[in-house]
Amino acid sequence: MLTVNRVERIQGRIQVPGDKSISHRAVMFASIAKGKSTIEGFLPGEDCLSTVACCRGLGIDIKQEGTFLEVQGKGQYGLQEPENLLDAGNSGTTMRLLSGILAGQSFLSVITGDGSLRKRPMARIANPLRQMGAKIDGRVGGKLAPLIIRGGNLEGIDYTLPVPSAQVKSAILLAGLYASGETIVREEFLSRDHTERMLQFFGGNLERRDGSVVLKKSELYGQSVKVPGDISSAAFFMAAAAAMPGGHLIIEDVGLNPTRTGIIDVLREMGAHIRIDNIYSSGGEDLGTVIVEGGKLKGITITKEIMPRLIDEVPVIAAISALAEGTMRITGAEELKVKESNRIAAMVTELKKLGIQAEELEDGMEITGTGRISGGVVESYGDHRIAMAMAVCGLFAQEPVQIQNSECIAVSFPGFEKTLKEITW
Ligand code: S3P
Repeated sequence: MLTVNRVERIQGRIQVPGDKSISHRAVMFASIAKGKSTIEGFLPGEDCLSTVACCRGLGIDIKQEGTFLEVQGKGQYGLQEPENLLDAGNSGTTMRLLSGILAGQSFLSVITGDGSLRKRPMARIANPLRQMGAKIDGRVGGKLAPLIIRGGNLEGIDYTLPVPSAQVKSAILLAGLYASGETIVREEFLSRDHTERMLQFFGGNLERRDGSVVLKKSELYGQSVKVPGDISSAAFFMAAAAAMPGGHLIIEDVGLNPTRTGIIDVLREMGAHIRIDNIYSSGGEDLGTVIVEGGKLKGITITKEIMPRLIDEVPVIAAISALAEGTMRITGAEELKVKESNRIAAMVTELKKLGIQAEELEDGMEITGTGRISGGVVESYGDHRIAMAMAVCGLFAQEPVQIQNSECIAVSFPGFEKTLKEITW
């Protein structure tokens, strides 16, 4: 159980662990590329370690020393039939993206995960992958994991995403590497495009055409990847610093891919002072230093257009909304219901336990800022982002906030508590 006490100051210069989405992709792409790849700044969180374990289960030699990985890629057709179940743990990205690769293999694989992942919707990937020619079965009529996949002989499809999801887009694109003809994915609002960028970086034949992504069957070649700091992890500290009058926080080497920077836009609209400095590019991704000055924030309305660029940051936005002036209205966020927990229900329930005025909406939540957070015992629902959002509440609370089942933080942010201590007094 993590206990977080009220602090008077948030100040310092930090780096955050590697980006989770990019770490997953780097391991998968390196596994199916020809030749050796190295990955620097890898996130050794439980989710990404699940991806490493699954790729090892498919016969890939991966050496890991902390945040450095060496992957001996065997090329697209070099994976072996796994002898046992592939375990994606808590990680939706592992299960959904890997299913795209497995759809291209003529052998049999069975992929499963923990109790939370086995409840999450898999029809969203299984359906398009079946349309491409893969045989996929699973529980509840093929909609839930464990998924049983026998792939091969895929054909490209032209697919418009029915839900805004980078994982679905990525699964289809990865299957597209094995498909005849063109694989085209269209989406209403651009979701994180790390797959597209990394496919190009590894030599994939991908182009963007009139707002859609077009991929042709292509071979990938081993590369050296530098993983940027995860803006979704930085977000907890950015939000906390922004809400703390006098706060001053510098976060270096943060990934600034424009499909991920919704948190900066929202904090700025709430009145936060955020500057970006030292921007540079690596492996097709932008990185930079984020400088946050704290102050008084105001509640705003957030709508569905920004959601694909913000979705993982909604819990922490909700947390600091209690400190903002006026009402924070978060809409267009239905996807939060099918994350590691139902993040709408979880946040509203737990915020209320801390005396915060919060209300569930059909597609989001509304929080009335009173500037006051009381203390108490809250639940994480085994969801890393709920646990860290509640920790941010603790920094401003009258009494300590105790977060039950906080060990799930290791899913995406090993060292969270240490970094939190480094920047607070
Ligand atoms: C991710 C995509 C998002 C995000 C998740 C990581 C990815 O999920 O919430 O944390 O790496 O592609 P959806 O694709 O379900 O929106």
